Amino acid sequence: MNSLSIFTHTGLELFLREITATDIPQIMTLERSAHTHPWRQSSFEDCLKGRQKCWLAESKNLLVGYVVVTHGGGDAELLNISVAPQFQRKGIGQCLLAHAVNCVKGKADMLFLEVRVSNRKAIELYSKEGFFEVGQRKNYYPTVNGHEDALLMAMQLDPI
Ligand SMILES: CC(C)(COP(=O)(O)OP(=O)(O)OC[C@H]1O[C@@H](n2cnc3c(N)ncnc32)[C@H](O)[C@@H]1OP(=O)(O)O)[C@@H](O)C(=O)NCCC(=O)NCCS
Repeated sequence: MNSLSIFTHTGLELFLREITATDIPQIMTLERSAHTHPWRQSSFEDCLKGRQKCWLAESKNLLVGYVVVTHGGGDAELLNISVAPQFQRKGIGQCLLAHAVNCVKGKADMLFLEVRVSNRKAIELYSKEGFFEVGQRKNYYPTVNGHEDALLMAMQLDPI
């Protein structure tokens, strides 16, 4: 299995490795703690069976985050990025995003993502890492009492 060790800009050592089916229960625990509208378990199971690249980050044998990215037809899409609430703002999201970009470099020209307009933390991260706004999808996400818009963002990758 592929794995690598990297340091966040705060000096935290992370071990990155591909997600396997046995990781899904703890991934779901983190997913539910990080999102108001978490993915279903079946979404992760489908990603493991598909062409998606699914990687997790561990610190001292503890799951601290994960990222899911896919590519096809010259484009790539960031599908999920999550960091455990107690480990946020330590540079883990930045490392996971950089790793996702590396996974699709040479396989796509553009990397796209969708994010809730209210998700300031994620929008800050994406903007800092070179994503720019390319559009909006009206009422795209459910909220507790209605819907909210999605921001569509993109990053230019090196030409294939
Ligand atoms: C979005 C998320 C992945 C960021 O992960 P993280 O590990 O906390 O992010 P990092 O520590 O790498 O932060 C990198 C940069 O993002 C921005 N950022 C991150 N958290 C922020 C916050 N709370 N407020 C403002 N900016 C923030 C900052 O620019 C930060 O750089 P800095 O700390 O040097 O100022 C994390 O908050 C998360 O898992 N949120 C819940 C799930 C989610 O919303 N996923 C994205 C769905 S589209």
